Amino acid sequence: MTTSSIPTQSTQVFHRDVTHAPPLVDRAEGVHVWDAAGKRYLDASSGSNIVISIGYGVPEIIDAMTEQARKVSFCGGFTSEPQEQLAVELAEFAPAGLNYVRFTSGGSEANETAIKLARHYFVETGRPSKYKIVGRWRSYHGNTLGALAATGHVMRRSGYLPMLPPSAHAAPPYRYRCNFCAKQPACSLACADDVERVILNEGPDHVAAFIAEPIVGAAAMGMVPDPEYFRRVREICDKYDVLLIVDEVLTGMGRTGRNFAIDHWDVIPDMITCGKGMSSGYSPLGAVITTDRIHAAVAEGSGMFEHGFTYGGNPLSCAVGLAVLRYIKKHDLVANAAEVGAYLQASVREALTDSPIVGEVDGRGMLVGVEIVADRATKEPFPFELGINKVIAKKCQERGVLINPAFSGNADGYRGDRFGICPPYIFDRSQVDETVAALQAAVHEVATEVS
Ligand SMILES: Cc1ncc(COP(=O)(O)O)c(C=O)c1O
Repeated sequence: MTTSSIPTQSTQVFHRDVTHAPPLVDRAEGVHVWDAAGKRYLDASSGSNIVISIGYGVPEIIDAMTEQARKVSFCGGFTSEPQEQLAVELAEFAPAGLNYVRFTSGGSEANETAIKLARHYFVETGRPSKYKIVGRWRSYHGNTLGALAATGHVMRRSGYLPMLPPSAHAAPPYRYRCNFCAKQPACSLACADDVERVILNEGPDHVAAFIAEPIVGAAAMGMVPDPEYFRRVREICDKYDVLLIVDEVLTGMGRTGRNFAIDHWDVIPDMITCGKGMSSGYSPLGAVITTDRIHAAVAEGSGMFEHGFTYGGNPLSCAVGLAVLRYIKKHDLVANAAEVGAYLQASVREALTDSPIVGEVDGRGMLVGVEIVADRATKEPFPFELGINKVIAKKCQERGVLINPAFSGNADGYRGDRFGICPPYIFDRSQVDETVAALQAAVHEVATEVS
């Protein structure tokens, strides 16, 4: 590779992979990134962590940041105009009835906040026995211990199991590898009914909330449930007085071609968590958006939601969030994510359909997931050690295109390889073509090498 890296022995950063420091980035503009060796990449990964929604270096956002930093960047004990206004505009952007916002510095904090707010709601309304959180297998909600307990990503949980609060998980709506109905012509919704089974096992009097990503990210990229799935889940939650939290940290703010991915199901959750694309990477920002009912329970109860983080709602990040949201609306970027996203989905499907190592392509809008398998008939995954999704991503990178490599464990918790193509919402069709050409060549090369 021609990328420029710091030798691992000379870095004092405690990297995730201490044996391999990532390449050095130099600068970025629009949909392109340059490394320190001067090589240019087309970024179809939105900054690898699926964060960049509106592109790099947008002057309006830099102006808003600069102006706010000059005014006041932090002052705990006060609220600020950007925080107040962002709450108003975020509530307008969210489904009807979700009108109150608690800000955080990212997605894990947002999910921690939602989990604690669910518990607090039941304390406020006189049902303190309800505290358990039900998640799903093949999910990711963050790396803090509460969010990790709700997470169903086996590899990310396994090292920390003794430290995680008790949790329960339902089956994922994973049609390609569904234990209930993968061999049947249509989804039976048994995966949705599994949520009821878990609630009954845990005891409805003890379950406070069910948390799920509407379209799965890191744990099984691009897994889209059946069109009836969330309606059934909503009914089950209502039946047992369990709150429905949708984790839109990755899918929210337009990525899937709707304001929030749950809008594809026309279902109103009790809480939405968001992060990543809401600030497009200009400043750390996350949020929980919740209903009048939950806010009223606190307002009419103790009056306090005793929880918070120092940087939650800081004026600088909120000014960024406000400028990004306005930019998304002004440039109709949700519609672009839907339209160019549909082209992206179709192009990736067409390019990879005949590959002997591609199991399925799934996703919505600017979020595509591709599953790589050793055998299309049996769906047998490649050995874990091969890291085949990373090999494909590296070959794309050599061709000057960045995709999202690191999504593994979807088959049995450890084995199973998916990767993502998740560009910023400003991508156009020619950039899709460039991405898909590199991807097709990379997949073809890998398929030839392993055959
Ligand atoms: C769906 C989802 N939830 C939560 C998180 C955690 O967010 P953060 O890394 O900002 O804490 C992520 C991050 O990848 C995510 O994809």
